[in-house]
Amino acid sequence: MKKLFIKTYGCQMNVYDSARMADLLAPLGYAPADVPDAADMVILNTCHIREKASDKVYSELGKLKLLKDEKAQSGGKMLIAVAGCVAQAEGEEIIKRQGAVDIVVGPQSYHRLPELIARINREKGHALDTDFPVEEKFDTLPEEIGTNGPTAFLTVQEGCDKFCTFCVVPYTRGAEYSRPVAQIEREARTLAGKGVREITLLGQNVNAYSGEGPDGETWSLAKLVRRLAKIQGVDRIRYTTSHPRDMSDDLIEAHRDVEALMPYLHLPVQSGSDRILDAMNRQHTRDDYLRLVERIRAARPDIALSSDFIVGFPGETDKDFADTMALARAVGYASHFSFKYSPRPGTPAATQKQVPEDVKAARLEELQELLFAQQRAFNRSCEGRTLDVLFEKPGRQAGQAIGRSPFLQPVHADNAADLIGRIVPVKIEKVFPNSLSARLLYPSRMAEAVS
Ligand code: SAH
Ligand code: SF4
Ligand code: F3S
Repeated sequence: MKKLFIKTYGCQMNVYDSARMADLLAPLGYAPADVPDAADMVILNTCHIREKASDKVYSELGKLKLLKDEKAQSGGKMLIAVAGCVAQAEGEEIIKRQGAVDIVVGPQSYHRLPELIARINREKGHALDTDFPVEEKFDTLPEEIGTNGPTAFLTVQEGCDKFCTFCVVPYTRGAEYSRPVAQIEREARTLAGKGVREITLLGQNVNAYSGEGPDGETWSLAKLVRRLAKIQGVDRIRYTTSHPRDMSDDLIEAHRDVEALMPYLHLPVQSGSDRILDAMNRQHTRDDYLRLVERIRAARPDIALSSDFIVGFPGETDKDFADTMALARAVGYASHFSFKYSPRPGTPAATQKQVPEDVKAARLEELQELLFAQQRAFNRSCEGRTLDVLFEKPGRQAGQAIGRSPFLQPVHADNAADLIGRIVPVKIEKVFPNSLSARLLYPSRMAEAVS
């Protein structure tokens, strides 16, 4: 067997892609390794979203070069491939900066990896593929899927046509594309057959999903969710990431009607200022967002909301930032991700006058203080409640297992190791900033019976 080491940066779609690259290379004799040392092939699946993310790639490549040289000295060969969004954005440039790289392959062309590897082994030099044959990709990826516990990601939509002025994704992932329903359903059934009980549907704009249905009509995400919820074994469905503009009535209704659809929604707002939202080309106002939140909560009152925020977008004043703080206060989030604006090459906002770094840092700190307090308050509100947890993996202590609540909070419980892969009610006893500690309501053997 050859050793394959994959390191993944960035979003869940990259996590999905890395798993598919491993599936693709398994028939060629590559088995996953935990460390890059002495690997026959190393893939860096990269992210270009912020400067820090893409800079990491080059320092990692520097370290890999040393390992590659070591391997060569002992007569072996290590192939290094750069995949993902940096590969797409920088292409050739990567090979120029780091000659140890053999293959550069974009997020829509990685299904061609076996060909690229064969080419490298045949001829000397480098191989580059940054085309966008997204449909071909999904048609040729192997049906054999490796799973890792009772939860799985399933990409249903790729790319983005929104062109927010800060964002590289439309350039790195290409135009919006939705996989056909039948293909997604087949993959979901395969996952369920392997013991997966929770599927997270992925897309850069997942709620813009509009795929070909088995009836020849165009199906929405809501319709897809209702279909997948019928699959035996698929007990939990989540989806991410949504754009506020595509949060349609039928999807909101699905949150009311579909039991398997979990009460957690990541709905990035980015800013609470109309002026900045406009400059970002988000195509909605703060009021649109607040009314949307009201409608979602009317349909599913206990839904936990989360968001992404960017502070220090070019032109953001103290007043604009105060609007973001006010919006966050008005919504009340269960969790969040927040970032300082990072200028990205080729995006419109990058050439505008920038907010000073210290202002960005101060705003980020203030916003995070509020949002982490909201997260703690949300977690505290769960204390004493009984929640269903899907146990996913062993915890740090013997006998302990870790899983997720319906609201995506990590939950750990003692004497639960034999409940991995099951959904069981637990009593939340203690609350930590980032996790909950719970007690089983029934001894584990009985819990098995009720799960
Ligand atoms: N498709 C999703 C988000 C994809 S990127 C959406 O539309 O919301 C994930 C997050 O990274 C974004 O929500 C945004 O908050 C952040 N982000 C994207 N570009 C950024 C940049 N140039 N600087 C800082 N944060 C950025
Ligand atoms: Fe980026 Fe905006 Fe598209 Fe999200 S909607 S991926 S933030 S361009
Ligand atoms: Fe990063 Fe590409 Fe995802 S830029 S966030 S890996 S879509």
